[in-house]
Amino acid sequence: MDSEIRQSVRRFFKQYGMDPADIDIGRECGAFLDEMRRGLGGKASSLKMIPTYVTACREIPVGEPVIAIDAGGTNFRVGVVRFDAKGEPSIEDYSAHPMPGTKSRISRETFFSEIAGYLAPVIGKAEKIGFCFSYPTDMLPNGDGRLIRFCKEVQADGVEGELIGKGLLDALEEAGQKRRRSVMLLNDTVATLLGGQAARAHRKYGSYVGFILGTGTNTCYIERNAEIKKLKDIDPSGSMVVNIESGAYGLAPRGRIDEEFDAGTTNPGEHKFEKMISGGYFGELALAALKKAAFEDLLSDGCADKISSLCEMSAKDANEFIGDPYGENLLSACCPADEAGARDRTAIFHLLDLLFERAAKLVAVNLSAVICKSGAGQDPALPVCVAAEGTMFHKSKAFRNKLEYYIKDYLVDGLGLYCEFIEAENSTLLGTAIAGLTAGMK
Ligand code: BGC
Repeated sequence: MDSEIRQSVRRFFKQYGMDPADIDIGRECGAFLDEMRRGLGGKASSLKMIPTYVTACREIPVGEPVIAIDAGGTNFRVGVVRFDAKGEPSIEDYSAHPMPGTKSRISRETFFSEIAGYLAPVIGKAEKIGFCFSYPTDMLPNGDGRLIRFCKEVQADGVEGELIGKGLLDALEEAGQKRRRSVMLLNDTVATLLGGQAARAHRKYGSYVGFILGTGTNTCYIERNAEIKKLKDIDPSGSMVVNIESGAYGLAPRGRIDEEFDAGTTNPGEHKFEKMISGGYFGELALAALKKAAFEDLLSDGCADKISSLCEMSAKDANEFIGDPYGENLLSACCPADEAGARDRTAIFHLLDLLFERAAKLVAVNLSAVICKSGAGQDPALPVCVAAEGTMFHKSKAFRNKLEYYIKDYLVDGLGLYCEFIEAENSTLLGTAIAGLTAGMK
């Protein structure tokens, strides 16, 4: 029974152009690399390849406090961080709030004043602020950045095109802070790279990559300045971290369900790659596929009715079902307790599993291309350190096992390139603190 159901689920995906077996990692990796090169050269590309002016190795000042802010897709976290002489961090006054603009559409003034409000309890505790801002932002050499556009369904009018660090400092001044702090803005992938590097300071690596697969997705890596052809006034012998904005990659093979799903989001046509793989979209995309499957007689009538009436589903719901198809979870509750329900569970399992498989293959393409471009990793004693963050990456076993398989198969066995995934505790917040302590503008 299982293999017959598996075949029908595969046929279903094939018909919609979404069968992971049709993804040729080598070909897709080549396309990703070309797109990276175009972005570095300032040519039309879905990959922005944003130069950050951040160099990877930093001497961390001992004992100095810094306010670290992490503005992510769902949460807005604040903490005061210090490092001791051994480089061990301590985090105090930690608080978490909703990201402004995720609950309802707000104005520019509200956006910055809400942030200033979140900082009020800690602003007297440090002169420096590290601001991790997880949205596509053009960086300036002084450490501020101009928001290109929001994603992850954040809605705040008039913030796109604005300098974010300056907006925050102005809002703090309006709230009565007369002394201007210094602020350093950085992307969360960059913070993760710096945090991962500091946490593994004792270990030598060939190079570093920062990778996020959480609500959204993105990758950064260390590039030789000579390769960043769109920047003219930089030292060609140096290197810097480049924020790829890989969630916006536009050349991954999309299927009909991807296209229909994208059309219903707040930013259709943008962040196409992210909508195929990241946690913020995965549950909804899987639900869209399940609803189609319900119409195509892949599920029993009882199950199809229940699935069709579901209004939302998260990546967590998908993971819970994969982890225990007979347990207490959203999708299990849609399957009747009879024989037909047993077939439903098998079909839903294969459907989710294939979507995870596709996400894993696409992430393998993304990371393989970046590791190739880094020019490092040929020596297994000096692998490329991939500092990774995000629930999809660390909490989804279904995804992670498949990713490890494709990395071994394609990158290690196929290309002879080595990498090591690391998860450093609080790497985003700590990387942000390091950046805030070592650079910034007023
Ligand atoms: C944003 C990136 C961010 C990533 C991970 C994407 O939606 O465009 O800037 O790094 O999510 O949070």
